[in-house]
Amino acid sequence: MDEREASARVRDMFTRIAPRYDFLNHLLSFSLDRIWRRRTARHFLHILSRPEARVLDLCCGTGDLTFALDRGRSAALNPAERRSPIIGSDFVEGMLFRARDKAAGARSDALFAAADALRLPFANESFDLVTTAFGFRNLANYEDGLREFARVLRRGGEMGILEFTEPGSGPMGGIFRFYFRQILPRIGGAISGDKEAYAYLPGSVSKFPSPPEVAALMERTGFSDVRFAAWNFGSVILHSARRA
Ligand SMILES: C[S@@+](CC[C@H](N)C(=O)[O-])C[C@H]1O[C@@H](n2cnc3c(N)ncnc32)[C@H](O)[C@@H]1O
Repeated sequence: MDEREASARVRDMFTRIAPRYDFLNHLLSFSLDRIWRRRTARHFLHILSRPEARVLDLCCGTGDLTFALDRGRSAALNPAERRSPIIGSDFVEGMLFRARDKAAGARSDALFAAADALRLPFANESFDLVTTAFGFRNLANYEDGLREFARVLRRGGEMGILEFTEPGSGPMGGIFRFYFRQILPRIGGAISGDKEAYAYLPGSVSKFPSPPEVAALMERTGFSDVRFAAWNFGSVILHSARRA
């Protein structure tokens, strides 16, 4: 499968599961996904608390990380202070439609724009922070993705990638692996009616490069201060780096 075909398949799959995406996300992660996104926002509070800082959340889906960043920013800033709205972008309209609906319900000023993360419609060096949660793994070309993220980041700007990875080898890692490979695809497939989409999740995680490999890729594509933190028995990683 070439990159264009791989990308089209990912887009079709997320279009199909968009209506049940939030419900299944929270159910299948026992709502831990909310904690991981909140923790990610806390990690970047030093940027979010600058009212002029421009923030882009890529592969934003229905906007849950965008809103976590927005809430982190609101808590850090004086409500009367003018601030740049956080931008969420995704290439599936069905996801963006839900994100905009949630923004209206939450009176959030976050903006949502359709964009392919591999060809962003933003000028060079326009953001202070670029994030993505559980989206990077789906890109058809990781290296091109990182170069594109670096292009839109200002020098010294930061990037955060929250992703699943194969858990550690301890007993909890084993339990998680069993749940992720055997239980989650069955429940997700039964509720969404889309077995393929929920079989794709563990399959794509097992093919995804390990955290040190992702870190090495970041260093090759214009980033410095590359770090990663492992959460949830090593199954969830927050990669962070600075645009060199
Ligand atoms: C697993 S969801 C994550 C959504 C959200 N970030 C979250 O934390 O729930 C992955 C998202 O990445 C989007 N995506 C995948 N490849 C993309 C690309 N090349 N450009 C833009 N969005 C992409 C999908 O449409 C989907 O909404």
